[in-house]
Amino acid sequence: MGKTYKIAAIGGDGTGPEVLREGIKVLTAAAPKFGVKLEFTHYDFGGERYLRTGETLPDGAIEELKKFDAIYLGAIGHPDVKPGILEKGILLRIRFELDQYINLRPVKLYPGVDCPLKDKKPEDIDYVVVRENTGDLYTGVGGVSMKGTPHEVAVQSAVYTRFQVDRCLKFAFEYCRARNKKKTLALCGKTNVLTYLYDLWERAFHEMGEKYYPDITREYYHVDATCMWMVKNPEWFDVIVTGNMFGDIITDLGAITQGGMGIAAGGNINPEGVSMFECIGGSAPKYTGKNVINPLAQIASGQMMMEILGEKAMAKKIEEAIMWVVAHKLKSLSAGKMGYTTTEVGDMVAAKAAE
Ligand code: IPM
Ligand code: MN
Repeated sequence: MGKTYKIAAIGGDGTGPEVLREGIKVLTAAAPKFGVKLEFTHYDFGGERYLRTGETLPDGAIEELKKFDAIYLGAIGHPDVKPGILEKGILLRIRFELDQYINLRPVKLYPGVDCPLKDKKPEDIDYVVVRENTGDLYTGVGGVSMKGTPHEVAVQSAVYTRFQVDRCLKFAFEYCRARNKKKTLALCGKTNVLTYLYDLWERAFHEMGEKYYPDITREYYHVDATCMWMVKNPEWFDVIVTGNMFGDIITDLGAITQGGMGIAAGGNINPEGVSMFECIGGSAPKYTGKNVINPLAQIASGQMMMEILGEKAMAKKIEEAIMWVVAHKLKSLSAGKMGYTTTEVGDMVAAKAAE
């Protein structure tokens, strides 16, 4: 007997609902073969709801979300809502309150994709960024005073506890070991300037590695150098672990090297709780409702959802379907240039995943 998973589906803003629909289409097509049942419950959280009701997440929403096996999210961000309100009120609030302390972002170049890096092939770009997802500049520690005067002071602090760092590093080491490729974990930091913050990370990294993971090679790169090597020598990397802010930045760079936001998937993971899967691109308002956005990133996030839920064979099947469509059908991964509509891309991946 197969398993039934209860999934909360949040389309969100802009093209979010369009790509989510394709993601659900593919998951639903692939599931039966693997004896998997998926039950989706839809929520209308996002900019439209906020503009109508003044509410980002209603009372009780967090408690309700905790009852699902996973959350499948489209995108959050609305052009008529001031930046920060929806991001903090919905996306970051779910990440924090569900303690999704890992943001897992694979960077993988599929055959047939135009890579902006000269002479780099699929075998050169295949690594994973483990981004810490609860601390750093994202905690909201800080404040502002004398706002609007010439003496305005703004402070926003990067905060990490040893506990947060250790649990993130443990995940990264374990992930690197299970991945079983180069068995190399790179810490991306800034120990030459952030001498409190990344000193903590660096000590914790080596202490843990030495004691529990002698089979994993440890490397350290400053964040600026990491960016340089991600462009020049991406083949060096296997798993990169880093703080929340650097992780946010380097994963956009990583995404563009694998063909762009159209293909970049991610998961906000609580290994002991409820995780949320979303493509790393935004809500792309200018493409909304045009049926031109690339749904592959969302579909790949669904693949990651099944992988984390333990349905490895189903996840593999979806990845193969994505790869086949990328290699044999799409002209480009960019919105409007794929040679197919959003719906058609979803249909092709779904058909392949159901084979
Ligand atoms: C991401 C996004 C978010 C982040 C924003 C929308 C708050 O850029 O998921 O990478 O900074 O984490
Ligand atoms: Mn980002």
